[in-house]
Amino acid sequence: MLWIKSFHIVFMVAWFAGLFYLPRLFVYHAQAIDAVSLERFKVMERKLYYGIMTPCMAVTIGLGLWLWGGYRIGFGQGWMHAKLALVGVLIAQHFYLGKLMNDFKYDRNTHGHVFYRWLNEIPTLPALIGIVILVVVKPF
Ligand code: HEM
Repeated sequence: MLWIKSFHIVFMVAWFAGLFYLPRLFVYHAQAIDAVSLERFKVMERKLYYGIMTPCMAVTIGLGLWLWGGYRIGFGQGWMHAKLALVGVLIAQHFYLGKLMNDFKYDRNTHGHVFYRWLNEIPTLPALIGIVILVVVKPF
């Protein structure tokens, strides 16, 4: 079980690296003008989203479900339900970032760099803090 939990945390960290970095790329992409930079950002975003973020999200969730369903850890407990609600927010954020990446891919982005500076933190940071406190402290 501890091996599964270890890799659950490893892949969670990699997923979060992307959840924080992709909006940062969007900040600079929204300010770029020259064709070379615009194409470079599209390549970086696609590789980050499909090469790292999506596989790591899938493995984090798969191993988490194995801990929860297979080892019954947190079954029926409030902290686990609250954690799953926050994980739901992160999954929605992941797919929303994918939609925004497609908007950039087809040059139809409508947001400015300030919007992406906020998206860089909200909701990812509060969700991260909330999930770690819930799963380590188990306050309820
Ligand atoms: C569907 C998604 C997920 C499920 C079902 C799930 C389930 C679990 C379960 C059952 C444990 C074991 C808890 C224990 O041994 O006390 C665990 C550990 C952990 N999970 Fe998740 N998890 C999920 C997603 C996440 C995400 C997105 C994060 C990101 C912050 C995360 C962070 C952690 C951490 C840090 C631990 C280790 C806690 C400890 O050892 O005290 N999990 N997870």
